[in-house]
Amino acid sequence: MNPNEIPDAESVYLIPTYRRPRVVFSHGEGAYLFDSNGKRYLDFAAGIAVTALGHGFPAWVEAVVDQASRLTHISNLFHSAPQIELAKRLVENSFADRVFFSNSGSEANEAALKFARKWARTNHGEDKTDFIAFEGGFHGRTLGALSLTHKNKYREPFGPLVPGVTFVPFNDLDAARRAITDRTCAVFVEPVQGEGGVRIADVLFLQGLREICDQHATLLVCDEIQCGLGRTGRLWAHDVYGITPDIMTLAKPLAGGLPIGVTLVTEEVSRAVEVGDHGSTFGGGPLTCRAAQIIFDYINQPDLLEGVVRSGEALMKGLREFSSDNIIDVRGAGLLVGVELKTAVKPLIEHSLEQGLIVISAGENVLRLCPPLTITIDEVNTALEILNKGISALERTS
Ligand SMILES: Cc1ncc(COP(=O)(O)O)c(C=O)c1O
Repeated sequence: MNPNEIPDAESVYLIPTYRRPRVVFSHGEGAYLFDSNGKRYLDFAAGIAVTALGHGFPAWVEAVVDQASRLTHISNLFHSAPQIELAKRLVENSFADRVFFSNSGSEANEAALKFARKWARTNHGEDKTDFIAFEGGFHGRTLGALSLTHKNKYREPFGPLVPGVTFVPFNDLDAARRAITDRTCAVFVEPVQGEGGVRIADVLFLQGLREICDQHATLLVCDEIQCGLGRTGRLWAHDVYGITPDIMTLAKPLAGGLPIGVTLVTEEVSRAVEVGDHGSTFGGGPLTCRAAQIIFDYINQPDLLEGVVRSGEALMKGLREFSSDNIIDVRGAGLLVGVELKTAVKPLIEHSLEQGLIVISAGENVLRLCPPLTITIDEVNTALEILNKGISALERTS
């Protein structure tokens, strides 16, 4: 199909769940994407914090091609060497004792919901079924995960959702303390809220959540689907808080762009889960797990993580030097950075795209920057230049 015809064909054949710009990308290399006309774009979205090592990372491509030619799929009816190799890496480098593989962030959270319910029922009886989640939190779009997702626009058309979920203001420990009861089986929290506007959990808030979960025999679930795996400059976003969760969910960057979800749990949680309690046809397949080993090994290196901190600091420093009155706040952790504007960010996103920079939003007024973790300072400076000019140009026209 002629690339110019693709956007119109989409409007005929696809269920219209997405609004997209008319650009059609043909290939990518490192931190750059190229459209069908050969125009180059610096990718500060990374497919929503997914392509952590950029596009076409050579060792990843080699592993994917090799694995695809050997064995792509066998289902979970059979043992898989790549699956266990990846599981071993995740367990040996985290608080967790065991993992369950699925195919997306939403699915990782669905598994977390079910495991929390099963753990509670096994250890504390049938009434401990409630959940706490946070205002601004995003945990996915499937019905269970959606029940924990705060945004009304996403929830309202699809009710009734899973009952027993209480939403508490993010970073309000007293409110969480008032909401939690002995019927609460799990508290779901993103250490850094991504979709909710790049909001960072306060240290005392996350530590306090750990404490109140312990007091009520409640599981603490860290959703690190967006903020985990090196994005904040630590392997795990919760690392800086001096706490460990009982369950952690991962997805986005782990397989370098192939679909994957992981639910990591302690031995105690795992003990409640039996054969047949949960399953997935594709989860943890040989291809995705082999790809993920490459990504994990590369991310889990001090040099890479230090680079994330350096580039993230350069990005935030540069943004804070912009002279625009339109900027309310610049915040972030590592390479998950938000710029809150007084106005909607859509015009800036469109302007940036025209100028060859891909950026996305996190809500109406927050620009979200989440480039590959391998982004260089030169590339950061290029992005800053485009954004600075864009913000000034839009100020002049408003
Ligand atoms: C924190 C968080 N949790 C869950 C999800 C859902 O992941 P997926 O879109 O892979 O289902 C996302 C996706 O943006 C996310 O950012």
